[in-house]
Amino acid sequence: MSTFSAPRGTYDLIPPDSADFLAVREGIAAPLRRAGYGYVETPGFEQAELFFRGVGESTDIVTKEMYTLTTRGGDELALRPEGTASVLRAALQANLHRGALPVKLWYSGSYYRYERPQAGRYRHFSQVGAEALGAEDPALDAELIVLAADAYRSLGLRGFRLLLNSLGDKECRPVYRAVLQDYLRGLDLDEETRARIEINPLRVLDDKREHVRKQLAGAPVMSDHLCEGCKGYHEQVRELLVAAGITFEDDATLVRGLDYYTRTTFEFVHDGLGSQSAVGGGGRYDGLSEMIGGPPLPSVGWALGVDRTVLALRAEGVRPAPAAPPLVYAVPLGEEARRTLFGLVTQLRRDGVAADFAYGGKGVKGAMKAAHRSGARYAVVLGERDLAQGVAQLKDLQSGEQRPVGLEALAGELTGRRE
Ligand code: HAM
Repeated sequence: MSTFSAPRGTYDLIPPDSADFLAVREGIAAPLRRAGYGYVETPGFEQAELFFRGVGESTDIVTKEMYTLTTRGGDELALRPEGTASVLRAALQANLHRGALPVKLWYSGSYYRYERPQAGRYRHFSQVGAEALGAEDPALDAELIVLAADAYRSLGLRGFRLLLNSLGDKECRPVYRAVLQDYLRGLDLDEETRARIEINPLRVLDDKREHVRKQLAGAPVMSDHLCEGCKGYHEQVRELLVAAGITFEDDATLVRGLDYYTRTTFEFVHDGLGSQSAVGGGGRYDGLSEMIGGPPLPSVGWALGVDRTVLALRAEGVRPAPAAPPLVYAVPLGEEARRTLFGLVTQLRRDGVAADFAYGGKGVKGAMKAAHRSGARYAVVLGERDLAQGVAQLKDLQSGEQRPVGLEALAGELTGRRE
C-alpha cells in the first residue's frame, strides 16, 4: 500500500466491480437517448452563488454540505452538489430556451457533498440525470418517471418502490406553509428545529427522530391544500403512470432536500439499502429559472444515484455486467514467437475479437496459469518447433483439448469462433 488512500467518504472504482458502474450508467442513459434527450456536460464547479440561489440557502446541502473555495483570483466557487442548477444555467447561457421546447437533456458525472459518510452515503458520488426544460405538461413528468423505472428494470432491479407527491405551486404552497408553521409552532421541539420552522417548515416533516416523528403524526399535509390547478395536474400525472403500468405509492410526507421543487415530486427507494434507501429522485421545478435570473421556464427532471443503484443490484444478487473474459490468450515461447503472436493479437483485436497476451517474459508454466486466470476460452501457444512447422497449438482451456492450426489460418479460425 502507498502512503496515501482515497479521502474519507470516497472510494475508487476498481475492476471487476467498476464494470458494474459503467453498465449502470449506460443502462440509465440508453432509455433517455431513445426518448430524445441530448447529452450535456457542465464543469465540476460553478459560482457558489448559483447553488445558494438555486438549491436554496435553507437546505442542508447548501449550509452544511457544500465544498466551497475561493480561487487565487478571488472567485467564490463550489464543487457541484447536484446537477439541475448547472444544467439549467448552461441551457440558459446557450439560449437553448429560445429554440424548440421542451429542451431535453441528460448528463452523467461526479457530485460532491460534505456528508457524514456511511454505507451508501459518500462525499463524492455519481449521478445520471435528465432534465426537460420549458414545458408544463403532465406527460413530460410521466415520461421521465417511466424512463427511470424502465432504466432500473432493464438493469435487472426489481425491489424498488416509487413514492409520489405534489408540493403545490406559488399559489397554494405559501398558504399550506403558513398552516404548517402554525401547527409546528405548537409542538415541543428543540431550538434548531424551531428555527427551521421559520425558514423551511417543510423540511421539519422530514425529521427522522422518533420523538419528532410522533408529534408529526397529525401535521397538515400538502395534498389537502393543493389548489385546483395543482390537483388537476397531479391527477393527470397519476393517470398517465397508471396507464403506463407504473406502480407508485402516494406519499404525502415526501419532501425533498432541495428548495426548487414545485408540483410533482418523487423518489425511488430500495429496501435493501438500509437508511440510505433513496436510489433516485426528482420532480418539477417551475420557478428555478427565475431564481437564477432567467425567464419563466417550467421544467422537470430527476437524478439517479449510480453508487446506490449498484448497491441495490448487489443486494438483489444481480450483476449488470458479468465478467467479459477474452476469447483468446496468446502464449509465446521465445523471441520470434513473441513477434508473431503480437501480430496475431493485434489483428484479432482489429477484427473485433477480445484477445490478450502473456506479457513480461513469463515461462510456459506462468503463462498458462495467466491464460487460465484470464478466463479465456482458448490459448494459442507458439514454440520454436511450431514455428518451424508453420503452426501454433490451439488449446481449448475448457476441455483441455489441443491441436495444431496453420499460422495462416489461425486468425480466421478464431474470428469464426467469436460469440
Ligand atoms: P437528490 O435526491 O439530492 O436529487 O439526489 C439524487 C440521488 O443521488 C439520490 O437519490 C441518491 O441516490 C444520490 N445521492 C445523493 N447524495 C448522495 C450521497 N451523498 N452519496 C451517494 N449517493 C447520493 C438531486 O440531486 C436533484 N438534482 C435531482 C433532480 C434533477 N431534480 C430535478 N432534476
